[in-house]
Amino acid sequence: MHNKPVILTGLRANNDLHIGNYFGALLPLIDMAKTRSEEFEINLFVPDLHSFTTPIDHSQLYDQIMHNLRLFVAAGLPLDNPNIHIYRQSYIPAHSELTWILDCFTGFGEMSRMTQFKDKSAKLLADRVSVGLFNYPVLMAADILLYGASYVPVGDDQTQHLEFARDIATRLNNEFQEPLFVLPRSVSEQHKFFGKDQGLRIKDLVDPTKKMSKSDQSGKGIVFLGDKPNDAAKKIRSATTDSFGRIDIHKQEQAGIRNLLQILALATGRTFDEVDAEYNGHEQYGPLKAAVADAISTFLTDFQDKLASVDDAQLIAKLEADEKLMNQIANDTLYKVQKAVGLRI
Ligand code: ADP
Ligand code: TRP
Repeated sequence: MHNKPVILTGLRANNDLHIGNYFGALLPLIDMAKTRSEEFEINLFVPDLHSFTTPIDHSQLYDQIMHNLRLFVAAGLPLDNPNIHIYRQSYIPAHSELTWILDCFTGFGEMSRMTQFKDKSAKLLADRVSVGLFNYPVLMAADILLYGASYVPVGDDQTQHLEFARDIATRLNNEFQEPLFVLPRSVSEQHKFFGKDQGLRIKDLVDPTKKMSKSDQSGKGIVFLGDKPNDAAKKIRSATTDSFGRIDIHKQEQAGIRNLLQILALATGRTFDEVDAEYNGHEQYGPLKAAVADAISTFLTDFQDKLASVDDAQLIAKLEADEKLMNQIANDTLYKVQKAVGLRI
């Protein structure tokens, strides 16, 4: 078992992270890991087995996983903190083994009701919807329960899966009348713990009424972490604003301007209010755009330098050490379950 209570989350291998993902998800997560690592064990893992529940290009997968891990390091994930653990799901076979056992206690009906399954399977253009997609929540429950995680920071789209992890843990604990699994905290306790709703949403540069999202096909409204700094600056300079001719987000509906102020604040490490106070009342938008373009291009140059200088040998050494430790912890839990179900004595 881990020595301290556990915070655990899976970081999906996602190729094209944009500044919304970075400032809205990745950076807060890494900050959280750093600030909580005295009191908690922090498990951050790549759910690589989950990444082909819908079809992907398998020739890219391995590189993508390593690229993502490098992104986390470039974003500030420390490799020398003994309480922050990073690992790849598929390197710990207990995830798959526990999934099978949990499968046999899971109802077909309850999986069929999972909204992510319903949404994704309805949208899938492939000629088959995989059993892996159906089974996704069970593997996710195994991810959580193997390490006795109490807190699991996830987006709203994953709360139903978290509830399922609690249900299946309770079910087995009751059925075998022993505390096989630690129950993850309820969703409302999680929200209280993580301070629900930092609510940050960077908007699309072309249509600032929508959030910046990689599902936007044209890519013109999105700044990706891998964009050339100059190209990103161009996207900022052509961002949609409005025709009021005066910056005053308190009086006017200025979604585009508000977004630019937000991006400027994030990229320069200032507060929104500081940046707002600087530009409030300006009658030209050009200087604001120039400042944001400059800040984003500096931010990207800096980030890309950090990414290029990630020490792969150090990253791999950390991964391997953590994976060894995680195998021990996960196997202990698995063994308890195997004994309970009669596979071991
Ligand atoms: P996308 O919409 O680009 O597909 P995801 O749904 O994969 O992004 O989200 C990954 C994470 O990034 C989530 O935690 C989500 O809350 C965060 N996120 C996504 N878009 C934004 C955004 N525009 N602003 C802030 N955070 C975002
Ligand atoms: N399903 C999560 C997502 O889409 C990723 C994930 C997989 C996860 N296993 C997990 C998150 C276990 C938390 C705990 O974001």
